Amino acid sequence: MLDKADVNIDEVIEEYNLAGHIEELDEVGLTVVPQSTLKLNDNWFEQLRDAILRVGEARTGIKFDLDKGPSGPLPGRPSEIGHIILQHMIYEDQVFEKVLTHPVKKVLMTHMLGQDHRLAVSDAWIKWQTPDTWNQEETTGFHVDQNVVPAPWNPNKPHIANMNWCLTNYAREDGALAYVPGSHHEKRFPELGEALPRAVPVEAAAGSLVMFQGGLWHGSYRKTTPGLRVTMLGQHCRPYMLPFQDFKGRIPLEVFEKSQDPEYLRSLVRENETMLKVRPKDDSHVF
Ligand SMILES: [Fe+2]
Repeated sequence: MLDKADVNIDEVIEEYNLAGHIEELDEVGLTVVPQSTLKLNDNWFEQLRDAILRVGEARTGIKFDLDKGPSGPLPGRPSEIGHIILQHMIYEDQVFEKVLTHPVKKVLMTHMLGQDHRLAVSDAWIKWQTPDTWNQEETTGFHVDQNVVPAPWNPNKPHIANMNWCLTNYAREDGALAYVPGSHHEKRFPELGEALPRAVPVEAAAGSLVMFQGGLWHGSYRKTTPGLRVTMLGQHCRPYMLPFQDFKGRIPLEVFEKSQDPEYLRSLVRENETMLKVRPKDDSHVF
């Protein structure tokens, strides 16, 4: 069922031909929107990818080469598992705002989470060849993104939904997202070992947008190819939840001024929340 609260939704669905993707989100729990549907050119994605690699280098002191991988070892967990997650990307570059306000993303997210959904995280993910010492088939174990809410969940009204912008080609051997189609209908967490035999990889070319809902069982496969998998991701949540990262009051005014959809951006980062009204003096029966 389509959430029609936003009057512009129907127009965007028609303009971008999204009806099939909405159906897929309902039935399968995940959809891959190709670059041609997004109407974005290669340069748009290259800017995003290069900004992520630049931030990765600035924060770690390690160079990330698309074909060769990281220039040296990273301390701790990243070297054990072969990936690093860079948080709070929205503060780094306007390009990270563009992934939030693209009309296709907005409409599909609104379909899953309704009006007034919030940005919960603004993360980039750089993954390289999984070290031989990592002895599991998955590098991210199977889980659901809305695990902070006790099951059972309504499969038609997820609490959380996610977006993955694929900035490099994306297949099983490249360490793609693994997911169990339709698993959101089970309304529960997967048991240990239950999801992997039923999982399939997301196959997507660089320039695709993967969207999926928070009750879907997913993880990711080990990466057996050299070079990098680069992804921009972002969980969103319904307005009754606290975002995992708090952006309210922290994003400079100029980011809103340069945004293609400043009102939606304000809503995403909770700038549209009104102050609670002061209780009237004669309201003495309320304690
Ligand atoms: Fe996840």
